[in-house]
Amino acid sequence: MNNEDFLEAYLSDRQKIVDEALRRYLPDEGGVPHDLHTAMHYSVFAGGKRIRPILCLAALEACGGDLAPAMPFACALELIHTYSLIHDDLPAMDNDDFRRGKPTSHKVFGEALAILAGDALLTEAFVLLSRMEKVRLAAEKRLAVIHEIATAAGVAGMVGGQALDIRAENHSPDFEGLECTHRLKTGALIAVAVKAGAILAGANDEKIQSLNVYGSHLGIAFQIADDILNVEGDSSLMGKKTGSDVASGKVTYPSLLGIENARAKLAEHIEAAAAAIEAFDSRALPLRVIARYIMDRKS
Ligand code: IPE
Ligand code: IPE
Ligand code: MG
Ligand code: MG
Repeated sequence: MNNEDFLEAYLSDRQKIVDEALRRYLPDEGGVPHDLHTAMHYSVFAGGKRIRPILCLAALEACGGDLAPAMPFACALELIHTYSLIHDDLPAMDNDDFRRGKPTSHKVFGEALAILAGDALLTEAFVLLSRMEKVRLAAEKRLAVIHEIATAAGVAGMVGGQALDIRAENHSPDFEGLECTHRLKTGALIAVAVKAGAILAGANDEKIQSLNVYGSHLGIAFQIADDILNVEGDSSLMGKKTGSDVASGKVTYPSLLGIENARAKLAEHIEAAAAAIEAFDSRALPLRVIARYIMDRKS
């Protein structure tokens, strides 16, 4: 099997496993208040790529860990990510009408319920991670990973990055400022997905560190690719609007460096990610092909 076929089969298999677990873990759609549960399910099952949970499982696999005890962690990452998208699309933030190929949460359910669906998904992530019967893992290791995930989601990670991103609308950042925004708003959650997989697998410090370098480069690369796709991607493949960054005068890698230099930066981060895991054996193949996929992705 060539790498492309392997990647396609791997991603579709993992998406299926993650979706099944999400259906088990998320409070039932018929729950009360009904509209809130419906809004939570609407966004979670709107068709995301599941790249964060998949990265968590791929890092775990690269270190020889078992998938089953890691599933709540993988799914919690997707719940946090989905909440971040619902809030990112709100009129007070990016004011977007489409996400994952469907009208955004606030378009369907109204702003108040969209805000609450995001709040509920964030909170459910930590309910899931702290439920004894769902997470069969030594308490100390579990706490360490929960701490890493909370830190990456919060003010020192995604939320902090979103605040920098909003601030950039009025104070155009320089290259360092932009890289910092990307590292926090998108990179932190991707990097922690990889690191969590390594910790859960019981990897040694050296391996955790190498995977952290891999995840950090991949995280920035992911947002550069998103910026490039916003300029030249196909919105029907991406399931969201393109051209919005130029329309809103947003500072991005392509706007600051030009599209070719942005592509070169993307390739540099992908190379650095791949180099960080060179010493890993063939169990790291999924991580290697995912890095290529993030550079070449169309959606
Ligand atoms: C989109 O993330 C938002 C960014 C952080 C760039 P994804 O491209 O992973 O979105 P889904 O989950 O597949 O919808
Ligand atoms: C999304 O960044 C980052 C988070 C949701 C944390 P963008 O606003 O650039 O991504 P899209 O284009 O809306 O997916
Ligand atoms: Mg945004
Ligand atoms: Mg946005």
